[in-house]
Parts: sequence; structure tokens; C-alpha cells
Amino acid sequence: MILIKGGTVVDPVKDRIEKLDIVIDKDRIKDLVPCGKIFESDQFEFIIDAQGMIITRGLVDMHVHLREPGHEYKEDIRSGTLAAVAGGFTDIACMPNTDPVNDNASVTKFILEKAASQGFCRVHPIAAITVAQQGKKLTEFGELKKVGAVAVSDDGKSVLNSDLMRRALEYASYCGLAVISHCEDPFISEGGVMHEGRISTQLGLPGIPAASEEIMVARDILLSKLTKCPVHIAHVSTAGSVQLIKMAKEQGIPVTAETAPHYFSLDHTAVMDYDTNTKVNPPLRTEEDVEAIKSALKEDIIDVIATDHAPHSPLEKEVEFDRAEFGMIGLQSAVPLVLDLVREGVLELTQAIKKLSVNPAFILNISWENINIGQKANLTIIDPEFEYVLTEEMILSKSKNTPFLGKKLKGLVKFTFVDGELKFTSKLKF
Ligand code: DOR
Ligand code: ZN
Repeated sequence: MILIKGGTVVDPVKDRIEKLDIVIDKDRIKDLVPCGKIFESDQFEFIIDAQGMIITRGLVDMHVHLREPGHEYKEDIRSGTLAAVAGGFTDIACMPNTDPVNDNASVTKFILEKAASQGFCRVHPIAAITVAQQGKKLTEFGELKKVGAVAVSDDGKSVLNSDLMRRALEYASYCGLAVISHCEDPFISEGGVMHEGRISTQLGLPGIPAASEEIMVARDILLSKLTKCPVHIAHVSTAGSVQLIKMAKEQGIPVTAETAPHYFSLDHTAVMDYDTNTKVNPPLRTEEDVEAIKSALKEDIIDVIATDHAPHSPLEKEVEFDRAEFGMIGLQSAVPLVLDLVREGVLELTQAIKKLSVNPAFILNISWENINIGQKANLTIIDPEFEYVLTEEMILSKSKNTPFLGKKLKGLVKFTFVDGELKFTSKLKF
């Protein structure tokens, strides 16, 4: 048995924070009692002193690029899930833009089998909306659902044909799959490498206007209204998108939305030294957009924080800015960046944890048990005060493409349990 003593347990469902001791027996939570009631004894093979630490149900990241099959030199299911547990995630959903694309049951099954044999956490495959993400023909949603896909998305691209997207919403809803929409009008963003605005003009780099995202957000909201079927908007980055989602929610349209930590932690000025790790799609936006994203999180217009962990190797990143690939890794920096929002007073701690766990689980319809007696022990133990500089050695992902390298972060995942098994222990010490 394992005893976790003196930690602060966050319950995002009951909106409660309590100091509790936790006993884990095999894969389940055996006891959960107010601190100090359980005495250390020989029956515990392992005791964790969690004084000053936050304990949450394992976190859920609904937007991860694992790169396997096809681009294992950037990441694979083993390394990606290792980075996930190091970031506090016990459940991740992986995007289908692999090679081959996850547009059929055999790729979905391959991912699940590989995750079961080599993964450190649970992996929930997201299949493509269209065959080869070509935007022409829908994939076999029913069959994909049957073998374990939780959602469909053509992430990286929009489904341009509105009629096809309408059918996708209807078919997915019928099959019990979530639809995650990458919102981008590729005609208006064509050739752009950063946000179109003051800084792109200054740097002489071609821009991607906010409207590129907002046009598609508006369309997908209208399609959701038309079909009465849910749509989830991926990586929201602009104030205009926030406005549209707010209006849609007020009208009762079944839309949900996510943003990624870089959209509330960085703005387009981060691109000024041409660090290709700041090149991401959608791009880092203006200071006003960052403020709008923060308010939207606070007001629950944005339901989920997901990383959009997008590993790329030096081959794709150590090149001229305009030739570099879009994307940054994010699994291991999410928790400290979200805790910054709590420290700033933007989010309550329970609200932050909700957006990192129960909300994405609900959207994906994956099982999510809270910290309760009898439940499987899926736990993340975080030291919120731990300060450190993010180094390449700490990053367990195969790729190191993050603009937070060399930056000071506050808040560290110390332990992650998946179904009672300790899958990650941080080696960092004060
Ligand atoms: O920056 C991004 N990288 N945005 C996307 O939509 C795709 C992703 C990737 O796959 O690298
Ligand atoms: Zn993505």
C-alpha cells in the first residue's frame, strides 16, 4: 500500500479544496481521510510527503500530436506518453495527422495497441474527419468509434467544404464522436508565418490575419446551430473568436472551445528574435488577444486548456523562420503556465483543474473518476511553489521545440499515478 500524506486535494466537480491523506491499495484508492488521521506504519511500502502540494485527479490533454506512425524521429507513442505523465497527464487524445493519417480502423487499432504495450498513460485516438485529411470524403465514423476513436478532426487543416462539415457534424453526433475543428481559412492565411499586425509589418514577415480563424469559427458555429450537433473549436487564439463563441453559447448552440497555454502566456512580440519555436498555427496574437483569451477562460467561454503539443526536430526548426514548421511542444510546461493564471487571479484553482481534466473528459466522453474511495488511483501531485529553469535535459519528449526553454517556470509535477501505478517521479530537488 502507498500513503500520500498531507496534500491539498482539489475537487473540480464539487469545487472543493481539502487537506486529505490518501491510501492506495493496488490500483485503487482505499482510504481518503482528513490529514493526520493515518499513522505511518510498516504496512505502507511507500510514503509520499505531500505537504504543500496539490493533488488532483490525473489531468487530461485533448490535443496532442504523438507523430506515430510515420514521424517517430520527432516523437513516438512511448516518448510522447512519457512526456505526458511528466506533465501530469494520465489521459491524452492524439491527433490524426500522422503518416499514414489515422483515417481508418487499422491505424486507430495500431495506436491503441502500441499505447497499451509501450505507453505510460492512456491514449485516446482522434481519427480524421476526411480520408487522408483531404477534405473530400468522410471517413468511416461508425467503424472508427467501434475500435476506440473518441473524436474526429482534420487538425492542421479546416474542412473547407461546408456541406461535408455539416454531414460530419451529423454523422459524428449519431455515432457518439466529438468533432474537433481546426479553424483556418487557408486562402486568407496562405503564405503567412506569423500573426498579421504591427510586428509582422516591422519584421517584414507575411502575416496570418485573425479573420482567417474567425471566418471558420463563425461557419462552424452556424453549422452547429443548423444541425443542433456539437462542435469543439480547437486552439482558440483571437478576441474575435472569443466573441463569436460567447454569442453562440448565449444562444444555446452546442459549441465548446479550447485554448493552449501559449495563447495566454505569449504574444506576437515573442517572434521578434526569430525564434522558430514561437512559430505556431494559429500564430501568437496581440496583447489584446491574450487578454481576451484570459477573460474567456475566467468567464468559462473557453472550457478547456489543451497543449497542442506539436513536436518537431531541429531539421524542421533550425532553418529560416519562414521555412520552419508550425508547432511547439507543451506537455511539460502546461501545469506551471496554468498555475501562473491562478497566481495572477485569472482562474480559481478548481476552475483551472476543471479545464485540465473533467471538461475535456466530458467533451470526449471518456471515463473520468474523481478522487474517491474505491476509484482507480489516477493522481497528479504538483508542487506549486517549485521554481526551476526549463532545460533540454528535463524534457522527456524527443523534440525540444519550445520557446520556454531557458525560461523560469513555477510549479512542478512531482508524481503521476496511472491506475495505481507510479508512472512518473520528478528527480528535481530543491
Ligand atoms: O502549430 C501547429 N502544429 N498547428 C497545427 O495545427 C498542427 C501542428 C502540427 O501538427 O505540427
Ligand atoms: Zn494541433
